[in-house]
Amino acid sequence: MKTITLSTSEYFCIRGGFPLRGEIEVSGSKNASLPILMASLLSEDESEIFNTPDLLDIQNTIELLENLGVEVLCGDKSIRVYPREITNCKASDETVRKMRASVLVMGPLLVRCSKAVVSMPGGCSIGVRPVDQHLKFFSEAGVKVDVKHGYIHLEIERIKPVEFTFDLITVTGTENALMFLSSIEGKSILRNIAIEPEVMDLVEVLRKMGAEIEIEERTAIIRGTKDLKGFRHKVIPDRIEAGTLMVSAFVTKGDVTIKNLNTSHITAIIKALKEAGAEIEFPEENSLRIFSKGDTINPLCIETREYPGFPTDMQAQFMAMLSVADGESFIRENIFENRFQHVMELKRMGANIEVSGNTAYIKGVPKLTGAEVFSTDLRASASLVIAGLIAEGETIVRDIYHLDRGYEKLDKKLKRLGAHIERLETS
Ligand code: EPU
Repeated sequence: MKTITLSTSEYFCIRGGFPLRGEIEVSGSKNASLPILMASLLSEDESEIFNTPDLLDIQNTIELLENLGVEVLCGDKSIRVYPREITNCKASDETVRKMRASVLVMGPLLVRCSKAVVSMPGGCSIGVRPVDQHLKFFSEAGVKVDVKHGYIHLEIERIKPVEFTFDLITVTGTENALMFLSSIEGKSILRNIAIEPEVMDLVEVLRKMGAEIEIEERTAIIRGTKDLKGFRHKVIPDRIEAGTLMVSAFVTKGDVTIKNLNTSHITAIIKALKEAGAEIEFPEENSLRIFSKGDTINPLCIETREYPGFPTDMQAQFMAMLSVADGESFIRENIFENRFQHVMELKRMGANIEVSGNTAYIKGVPKLTGAEVFSTDLRASASLVIAGLIAEGETIVRDIYHLDRGYEKLDKKLKRLGAHIERLETS
């Protein structure tokens, strides 16, 4: 793994209007790799994780593990973790600010050190994003929870199996609870859990480590063990990268075969793209071909939902596509309360979008025009890149460090498919 540096001066210069064509492979999933890296802390044994993407968030997680005293060795798309000893049980403010998913360290640290001190994450550009459900779970599982001076202090008071129902569905909250309970002997039950493919990949890992976990609908029954073992695991393909490439291919009227994906994880994305007019074929297992026969993009009505619903992480990319659809669309964002920051930037490119509450009304325009736009978060930056691919003239996308947190070499992949995209640096 190469060192990725956070550069605030890099930007993309995109010349729109070129159809994407060819074959491309999807990288390993960011949101699966992060909890699995944290899960490696649950055992003293060595673990090895394959198909990890080369991303800033992965690097931040490795730094977090190293700060805890753990040795980490990075190979080409693989990471070995040697967590024999944990010498520090604190995730600092600086670490959590770099990456919210650092809160996933709470469960594993409690298991290994019986206590954990983790900076309380603040809100971020897509919403308030509290961690009250994580803390409520720990509290019910016999952990003393104290928030002071900006830090969450956790300490095990009484280890016991637990029955807990989440008030709302949370991905990292479910992951924290599953990791913690995997080490608790006896039968625990979690209800109203997230069942995203990334959560299921973590479950697979926890089973390899020795925990017995049954999942039925949104309920998990966990029989943990104190002797969790090391594991070897290949992470699932990144379904959001796959979806982003699919939208890019369709919206540019291209013809792209996307390989190394799990088509069963992207059913909602496939359905929505077909409704929009995309032709999608499955030439072989784990690959799909997407192309467009006609010239129009049908308008859509989309509501983001927890998996298996339409993913919030694809909302911004679809908005870029629908801004040039043949009619009026709407997108209702049900997961995060502030995930429309790309709207203003898309409007700078000529999109006709009005936002009311959690709904964006998009009147399709015949074309977008290139402009200088600013990324505000990971998926917003992907939407601006897609807008740049179809806009007339030149688009400058700034603050692309957001994109580098979660997409492995997206610009290089798009370029290989024929996009005119350059990564440049302000001197
Ligand atoms: N929520 C609470 N209390 C909690 C936890 C969550 O109110 O204790 C709320 C959040 O504020 C939000 C909703 O519940 O409104 C869902 O949040 P969730 O906890 O599920 O999100 P997350 O676990 O912080 C993960 C992904 C996100 C993805 C969401 C939703 C990782 C590392 N992150 O976040 O990914 O959008 O689930 O699917 O897995 C991204 O990759 O761009 C990204 C933001």
